[in-house]
Amino acid sequence: MKFRTRSIHVGNQRDLQTGAVVPPLYATSTFVQPAAGEFGEFDYSRTGNPTRKNLETTIASLESGTGALAFASGMAATHGAMMLLRSGDHVIAGTDIYGGTYRLLHKVCDQSGVTVSLADTTAIASLEKSLQPATKMIWLESPGNPLLSITDIQKCCQWAKSKNLLVAVDNTLATPVLTRPLELGADIVQHSATKYLGGHSDALGGLLVVRDSELLQRLHFLQNATGAVMSPWDAFLISRGIKTLELRMRQHCQNAAILAEFLDQHPRVQRVYYPGLDTHPQRSVAGQQMQGGFGGMLSFEVKGGFSQAKQVVDSTELFQLAVSLGAVESLIEHPASMSHASYDREDRLKYGINDSLIRLSVGIENIEDQQHDLSQALNR
Ligand SMILES: Cc1ncc(COP(=O)(O)O)c(C=O)c1O
Repeated sequence: MKFRTRSIHVGNQRDLQTGAVVPPLYATSTFVQPAAGEFGEFDYSRTGNPTRKNLETTIASLESGTGALAFASGMAATHGAMMLLRSGDHVIAGTDIYGGTYRLLHKVCDQSGVTVSLADTTAIASLEKSLQPATKMIWLESPGNPLLSITDIQKCCQWAKSKNLLVAVDNTLATPVLTRPLELGADIVQHSATKYLGGHSDALGGLLVVRDSELLQRLHFLQNATGAVMSPWDAFLISRGIKTLELRMRQHCQNAAILAEFLDQHPRVQRVYYPGLDTHPQRSVAGQQMQGGFGGMLSFEVKGGFSQAKQVVDSTELFQLAVSLGAVESLIEHPASMSHASYDREDRLKYGINDSLIRLSVGIENIEDQQHDLSQALNR
């Protein structure tokens, strides 16, 4: 089956008892055992739940993995992967990553003795420079967040394999519609399912997908032992969202490409970050790695500084001022004070997240309405 057919049918088998086309939502914490010492497929919902399992089956298929695990949030999934590391281990993380991931690595994982270096994952030379004898994992996002940098995942994985490192890719922004990191050699794919997979700003969740079944078992052990699992309600909504993921992504990409060109020409805009623009430094890698579009996220710097950026984000009406991304409705935000406020200011400025930067999550509303809204806010 092709991608979109799988997104609708794999993990969404009809209910044999009632004939219901949509599998029921299993809101239960526990399951009756056949007898003492005997177990059925499910025994307790922290360990496994049928609604969660359906979603895990769907995403494993879409990401070309052998299995997946659904967590309470994207951060819980990232933390799940980080629990593979032990005291003394070292992680190389991209400089262009979600602020919460930066915070987890610098302010939580450090408490268990794991150290982190930030590197430009688009350049092997930068990875080489950060490599230490204790390095165990590379963590990257492509497109990066908020600067939309594109890492050549295959090249990065080839280098990492030669050093015996695990590669984990946060695939939240690309989604498996545009990029499937496991096919390019990555070991772990992570998602904030809160974003494009759910797609409607009404559910919170995270996912890990892997190729190796032993790694899956280890992660399941850690997840069950620590307990940050996705609720069946969220799993139900995210499974429903995934059925239209491909259609939505195509529209997100189409609208974002038009807005990127529009902003690029605008006299009040200093610079636009969008992988589909000819001026993007990794435009050719993006063209090869991203299938059928360059994503629905874009960032831009307005001329001036914080007060000019603030005026724009406070003036849009259709683009609502909120963190998060990837849903049908358009959002606007100011990374320095919102999604990336948890970066140390020094690191934020060093890695190009300056005060005049604005990030858009381009929704799937009519493009003319979106453009009109940005235009009135910029011209105010
Ligand atoms: C790229 C990326 N990864 C991870 C996360 C964390 O996900 P969650 O908010 O579901 O915990 C986010 C949240 O904004 C994100 O944008």
